[in-house]
Amino acid sequence: MSKLLSPVDIAGLSLKNRVVMSPMCLFDVQKKDGVLTPVHFAHYITRAMGQVGLLIMESTAVDPDGGITEHDLGLWNDQQKEKLSELVTDVHQIGSKIGVQLNHAGRKAENAERPVAPSAIAYDKDWRTPASLTTQEISKIVDEFGAAAKRAQEAGIDMIDIHGAHGYLLDQFLSPEVNQHIDEYGGSLEKRYRIIKEVIASIKANFNGSLWIRLSLTDYIDNQNPLDEWKQVGQWLQRDGIDLIDVSTGGLFPVSPDFPVHDGYQTLFATEMKQAVDIPVSTVGLLDNPGLSEYILQNDQADLILEGRGLMRNPNWVAYAAKELHDHDLENYSYNHSYYRGLKNI
Ligand SMILES: Cc1cc2nc3c(=O)[nH]c(=O)nc-3n(C[C@H](O)[C@H](O)[C@H](O)COP(=O)(O)O)c2cc1C
Repeated sequence: MSKLLSPVDIAGLSLKNRVVMSPMCLFDVQKKDGVLTPVHFAHYITRAMGQVGLLIMESTAVDPDGGITEHDLGLWNDQQKEKLSELVTDVHQIGSKIGVQLNHAGRKAENAERPVAPSAIAYDKDWRTPASLTTQEISKIVDEFGAAAKRAQEAGIDMIDIHGAHGYLLDQFLSPEVNQHIDEYGGSLEKRYRIIKEVIASIKANFNGSLWIRLSLTDYIDNQNPLDEWKQVGQWLQRDGIDLIDVSTGGLFPVSPDFPVHDGYQTLFATEMKQAVDIPVSTVGLLDNPGLSEYILQNDQADLILEGRGLMRNPNWVAYAAKELHDHDLENYSYNHSYYRGLKNI
């Protein structure tokens, strides 16, 4: 059997295979209330029926002003929690695990009444200049991550992916370019890391499932943390109780990679992180060739494969991978419609 499609245990989280659905916003909350819609149910249930081991739900705001857009999911109130709990039940009935990505978009919160960031530096010339957060406001956001985690726990969620990448608030704090805070949350790398340390503690006090974090290991700009500093961050994350580091790149400024983008182009960053920590590391980015994903796992370049647009295009990507990798039993298993039993929302 291929490594890609064989089961794995990540710090107590048992997955039936190493295919994880990468968080991807649908921007489908027409009512702007952060509550899951029928489209979300169809979207996630279809991928669970496609036998994806773990679905990581899209960026979900911890604060009404922390969404990437006003059409994002949220987890700042109980109405959002109740609907989430229904989806979790459905996905579990089909046999997949489900996680949620908690986020505050900071200066990239397009529709925020008052966008905030470590410092008053806009994302781009057409974007509003954010207000620089006070220490009190930072504490409130840290608490909001904890409150959202408590709701995730009550809803039965298996894992939380902290969004520390793609230029959103926590990534903004880590950046020497964007974080010009001159207090205990800015300056040295350790001070820029402080909010993440507090967010982890706040989540762990309220949630006992698996805890991952997504990081962007390069921003494709000059003034950024060198890889050695990212590795130091990785060691702090391990010390502070993170179970897996989910390695991505970019998003802090509207700039593209400074090299031709190719299949698996971000995996070298995951492999670098893997050399620095003793916890699993996942990779993402143009990995919809199953042979390449299998090669990455076989060569210990990463421990899990996150699949984004491949799963958008083809909810049965696992069956496709089974066919490509000659796992014929699994290919048939993926088509077994008996898993549809018991669903109430489709
Ligand atoms: C429509 C869309 C929405 C996305 N939303 C998120 C998100 O909510 N959170 C996140 O961390 N990444 C998000 N991403 C990035 C994906 O998770 C993934 O890292 C990226 O698409 C590269 O993987 P792929 O080549 O397999 O698509 C999004 C990507 C797409 C295409």
